[in-house]
Parts: sequence; structure tokens; C-alpha cells
Amino acid sequence: MRRVVCLIWAGLLIAGVASAQTPPKGDPVAGAKAFGLVGGRMCQFCHGDNAEGGFGPDLAGGRGLTFDLFKKFIRKPYGVMPAYTEQRLSDQMVADIWAFVLSKPVATEMGKWHWPQAPASAPLGQRLYIGTMGCGQCHEPENKFARMWLGEYAKQVDFAYFAKQVYNHEEKWPNGVMPHYSRERLPEAVLREIYQWMVVDLGMRASIGGVLTAAAAADGQTTYSLEVTNRGIKNVGLDVEGLTVFVRVPAGTKVAKGGGSGYVGTQALATLGLEPGLRMAPHPHDESGEVVRPKPDLSGDVLVWKLPKLAAADKKILTFTLAGSPTDALIKGFDGSTMFWEKPGRNDNGRPPKMVYRDLRTPDHGDHELIAVKVQPAAAPKP
Ligand code: HEC
Ligand code: HEC
Repeated sequence: MRRVVCLIWAGLLIAGVASAQTPPKGDPVAGAKAFGLVGGRMCQFCHGDNAEGGFGPDLAGGRGLTFDLFKKFIRKPYGVMPAYTEQRLSDQMVADIWAFVLSKPVATEMGKWHWPQAPASAPLGQRLYIGTMGCGQCHEPENKFARMWLGEYAKQVDFAYFAKQVYNHEEKWPNGVMPHYSRERLPEAVLREIYQWMVVDLGMRASIGGVLTAAAAADGQTTYSLEVTNRGIKNVGLDVEGLTVFVRVPAGTKVAKGGGSGYVGTQALATLGLEPGLRMAPHPHDESGEVVRPKPDLSGDVLVWKLPKLAAADKKILTFTLAGSPTDALIKGFDGSTMFWEKPGRNDNGRPPKMVYRDLRTPDHGDHELIAVKVQPAAAPKP
């Protein structure tokens, strides 16, 4: 009896010691995901796809750190790296990332920055944003997306509002991805410079979403529904004017019917004078920031709608009917369908920013957004 109790005691002791010293078991596959973009915490944008380094140091092979030190550098970084709290990145995720970096060979050469520093002639705010604080490593050269989220609350946005989104980011985004910045590491004077460039000089963007779905099928035809939404808050977000919506007519398909308010018909995309949106920003890896805009695919016809205005919180449903049912090839043919609006675009407030380093997805005047295609292929007919 005594021996059994002793054994239990010894077992408990070993278990207790083990849990204090051994890190939680990590899974390198889960770690790769946590390190990345989809379902992850975007470490790769600063530390390289294979942890070979970039804006931040290489982590592959573990740098000779212990797990406890590794975790400490993530929870309480010592330099400009923003902090990842338990709420943003669980201990289990840290262990998984540790397993992932240990599974990678030590880098023999330092990796490239995800986005190189903007050249010396670029606005100071942009240089601080890309090269000093690293915001641009995640957010790309012009922060297309954050300027859009700000645009949803445009009338409320001033420096105090902006600063709150950075220093108290968790308030609006409790389950978000962006890590924690403190006033100590990111002084308010630096953030003001970023705000001046990004929000005042460049300007906020309207938050326009377009989702294309297949609504109904009958008589060998399919009717599609395109919901165009201004996600801005009513009377607070940015309104847009001069909206042109164009949907590519997939090759080999016939338009049976177009319609809805503002429908103007079909025309060759090349004659419309507008370019399809780009999903990814063209990615330079040189210091000059000189990027040549990729040649857009202007082939084929598009269905066109013109809407004079879409106010914040408004929504329009546009429909059209095509011959046949949606096959994978047909669905792919919708790629590049775009919503373009004349106003607001890049700021023209007398202080146009010298943008030598551009996000070439945003047009020179006006603005645009890709249409998301959520059409499912039709089920194969039963034999
Ligand atoms: C905005 C860019 C950025 C992001 C995002 C980022 N880091 Fe870092 N990281 C850095 C920089 C820069 C350093 C160098 C120290 C510093 O400045 O804080 C660093 C340092 C580290 C270190 C310490 C390395 C050492 O030996 O000194 C670890 C560990 C680390 N990062 C892990 C991560 C993990 C894991 C993630 C994602 C959960 C992550 N980092 C996200 C920029 C970033
Ligand atoms: C690790 C990647 C990453 C870094 C580094 C980063 N962000 Fe973000 N940021 C995000 C993501 C992702 C979102 C969307 C919300 C979320 O998931 O947290 C976001 C959202 C925002 C928003 C929108 C808030 C709103 O709803 O109005 C602003 C503003 C912003 N970031 C500014 C910055 C600035 C300024 C920096 C640098 C000081 C920075 N971010 C650094 C990833 C990042």
C-alpha cells in the first residue's frame, strides 16, 4: 500500500516538473499555418516564408534559443517588433511555430524584405511605415485595406481615432490578427507622421464589396445575382459617386438578358477605358520602387452598369442571365470583374503625396475593387 502511494507521488512529481520545463508539444504543420497568412498571424511577412529572415531576423533552426526565450521574445519583444499577447497567439500556437522553425534549415543568406524600403524621395510617413515600424510588411505599400476600414467610419476619423486603432487595436478587433503596439515602442510623433501620409495626404478609401452568386437556373439558362454594397456606416462612411460595374462575359457564353437599375448593355472591355482590378499587388524586390504596371487583360466583352451614387450602407442587386449552366471554366471567365468609382479617389487636397512607391492595384484616378465570385459549379446531370 505504502509503495503504491509513493509511486503515485513520484508520478505526480515527475508530471509536475515536466509541465513546468517542457514546452507544450508543437506540431510543425500547424506551426507553418500559424506563421502564415490564412488562419495565421502573419509572422512570415517579417521573418520570411521559410523563416529565413527579412525585415525581422531569420528564425529557421531556432537561432540557438530555448523555447522559453523564443516565447519571451514574442510576448515581450525587445525592439520594434509588435507584441503578441496570449489573446492573439496562444501558447499552443507559439509551441507549434517553434516546432516549425526548428524543422527549417538554418538560413545561409539573409532573406529579402517582403516589401523593400521606399526610396529616400518617398514621403517620410511612408518610409516610417514600411522601413522603420514594419507596418508595410503586412499592409503593402499604401495600406489599401486599413484605409478602407477607416473609410467605413470616415466622419469619425481623426488622429485620435486612428491612434486608437493602432494602440488599442484589440478593442475593435478582439479576434483580429494585428499584434500590439505600445506608445513606448511606437512614439506618437512617429504615428502622426504615418497618419499624415496615409490618411490625410493619401486619403481614406470607400469600402465597396461586390459578390456574384448564381441565383436560379431554368430553360438551359442561369441567372446570376451581383450584390454591390457600400459597407460604410450610414451617414458616417464615405459615399461613392460615378460607379461603373463591369462583369466579364466568359468566353463561349451568350448573354440572354442583362438588367437591373443602371444596366447599359455589353461592350468590348478594351473600349470601356477601365482596367480590371488586380488581386495581388505587383511585388518589386528592388530598392528603387520603380514598378511597371502589368499589362492588363482587356480581351472579351463585359456587361456594364452605371450607378450615379452608392451612399454608405446602401446596397444594389444587379442581375443578368447567361446561356448554359456554370462550369468551372465559365466561372473562371468572370475573373477580373470590377467595380470602379470616380470619387473619392487618391486625394487631391493640394498636397498630393509624392508617391514614387505605389501600390499599382489602385488606379491613378478614382478607385476600384475586384468582384468576389462565389458561384458554385452546377451539379453534373444524373445519368
Ligand atoms: C512587423 C514585423 C514583425 C512581425 C509581424 C513579427 N516579427 Fe518577430 N521580429 C521582428 C523584428 C524587427 C525583430 C528584431 C527584434 C525587434 O526589433 O523587436 C523580431 C524578433 C523576433 C524574435 C527574436 C529573435 C532573436 O533571436 O532575437 C522572435 C522569436 C520573433 N521575432 C518571432 C516572431 C513570431 C513567432 C512572429 C509571429 C507570431 C513574429 N515574430 C512577427 C519583426 C516582426
Ligand atoms: C502582422 C501584420 C500587421 C502589422 C505589422 C500591422 N498591421 Fe495593421 N492590421 C493588420 C490586420 C490583419 C488588420 C485587420 C484587423 C485584424 O485582423 O487585426 C489590421 C488593421 C489595421 C488598421 C484598421 C483599423 C480599423 O479598423 O480602422 C489600421 C489603421 C492599421 N492596421 C494600421 C497599422 C499600422 C499603422 C501599423 C504599424 C504601426 C500596422 N497596422 C501594423 C495586420 C498588421
